[in-house]
Amino acid sequence: MRKERTPIIAANWKMHNGPQQACSYIQALLSALPQAKRCGIVLCLPYVDLAAAAPLLRDTRMALGAQNLHWAPQGAYTGEISASMLTQLEVRYVIVGHSERRRLFGESDQDVNQKLRAALDAGLRPILCVGEDLEQRQLGAAMELIAYQLKTALSGVSAQELRQVIIAYEPIWAIGTGVSATPEQAGEVCTGIRQAIQQLYGAPAAQSVIIQYGGSMNEGNAAQLLSQEDIDGGLIGTASLDLDKFLSIVQTANQLCLEQQA
Ligand code: PGA
Repeated sequence: MRKERTPIIAANWKMHNGPQQACSYIQALLSALPQAKRCGIVLCLPYVDLAAAAPLLRDTRMALGAQNLHWAPQGAYTGEISASMLTQLEVRYVIVGHSERRRLFGESDQDVNQKLRAALDAGLRPILCVGEDLEQRQLGAAMELIAYQLKTALSGVSAQELRQVIIAYEPIWAIGTGVSATPEQAGEVCTGIRQAIQQLYGAPAAQSVIIQYGGSMNEGNAAQLLSQEDIDGGLIGTASLDLDKFLSIVQTANQLCLEQQA
């Protein structure tokens, strides 16, 4: 991380915890959080938790996020949720293009682009996930694939709009496996992502875009990962389900911010 960019630590609960558990977790987290606001904190919760969580997060240092959305404003899309439904629940962030959505639910790069567009149009900040699988990494094709994912997902997005976009580098082989990318591996790709953004949008946009790392980030490896110059936060699945572990990652990010400001 660099002091010019405020890191964002985001929890991705995936399909875990109903509204009651969400409320207890948020209350406990709020009382344990240090007062000073340094890194941003976002909780991306299951849809059914959002209405209960929104009032608890109002006027706090944490923001509410969702994990998915549909691109249409409304219509005959059984089971889907639109961007404006999310904003009505005070949601401010939404994960777009998570590899589980791409792989298990068949979302294409074009779908991801439409979802990103819908999020931006509604005033939501998208957390755009990109990343390679193990085979692509072993073939040496990771960066090429990620550059393509970025270019397609960001098609039609202006430099002004890009300021609202957060990019999450999530190598598929590291997600939920307990095997994180090494800080060097993660840092190298995040630098590559910044370069890809520079090619698309120029240097100032590239320098300010927030790039998170996600994939088995936990309380033990967060400090090293977040110390990489181009890693500006984390998207945390498994470890975010455990309040103490998530809190420890937030505290690590805060501490690194403090050291940089000193
Ligand atoms: P993980 O998940 O931390 O459990 O690897 C990260 C993610 O999928 O966003």
